[in-house]
Amino acid sequence: MINHFVDISDFKKSELKRIISFAKRIKNNPNKYENLLQNKSLGMIFEKQSNRTRLSFDIGMKKIGGNVIELDKKGIGFGKRESDSDMINVLSQYIDCLIIRNNDHSKIKELSRLNLLPIINGLSNFSHPCQILSDIFTIEEILGSIDKQKITWVGDINNVLISLLQASHIFRFRLKIASPKALLLKNRSLINKFKSKNISFCSDPIEAVKGTDCVMTDVWVSMGEKKSVKKKKIFKNFQVNENLMRHTHKKTIFMHCLPAHRNEEVVDSVIDSKKSVVWQQAQNRMYVQQSILNYCIL
Ligand code: CP
Ligand code: NVA
Repeated sequence: MINHFVDISDFKKSELKRIISFAKRIKNNPNKYENLLQNKSLGMIFEKQSNRTRLSFDIGMKKIGGNVIELDKKGIGFGKRESDSDMINVLSQYIDCLIIRNNDHSKIKELSRLNLLPIINGLSNFSHPCQILSDIFTIEEILGSIDKQKITWVGDINNVLISLLQASHIFRFRLKIASPKALLLKNRSLINKFKSKNISFCSDPIEAVKGTDCVMTDVWVSMGEKKSVKKKKIFKNFQVNENLMRHTHKKTIFMHCLPAHRNEEVVDSVIDSKKSVVWQQAQNRMYVQQSILNYCIL
């Protein structure tokens, strides 16, 4: 059987918990795992920019004894020189796992369905599962068990939020989403799919952050999306700033997957404040990715 990591919703709670708890073991005792994936190789295809995902997979894999090769899509002729299944079949002769970041989620799913090589979704237009699993790790590290937390998402309805919604559906933590009315309307079918006892949507960020344990946001325009002045305008009241954070409690934390567009979705005085855990959040990507690699490869 081949283990892929494409979407949070593909997993049972117990399997996700196992990946998180192994990541904790690696973080607590990295020396013990320095040969975990010895002689195993990871291929990486990034069709969009990446800093954290690229670096944390690369360094993370090497720290547990494995090798990494970044494959240039054009250089190998992916999608051009041979069929996808021939390409993946050939890659599987050399490497043990492939991470892909692209703008076509269906392609990532299609490649995983070939079942020739473990496929990891390193972010697509639809979801960002590695980020959210890692964010759950960080939340548990700082606040305790994820099931008991109240999380508020302020801003766009995007790939990171979809993985967060899937996680809330599985772990049953409370999730409130505050997003502009126009976006709520546009995403009606997604909202109907996820709206439940523990997941709610509104267009009032102040109401949404009251009593929350964690405020999360992300850029207003994601990679691969057309830049639109109109879209940015509708976020005017959705900036995470001191005024908004004033409605949270003393222990509320601030999270952002990064990269941040400072002074758009979040102001310096919040992202650089004591409430912000963004650097710890970025660091933890590596441990969770090491654990995901272990799940996919061993
Ligand atoms: N958060 C995240 O995935 O960052 P990169 O886009 O830099 O990989
Ligand atoms: N939503 C952002 C996340 C970047 C890590 C994007 O897709 O650009």
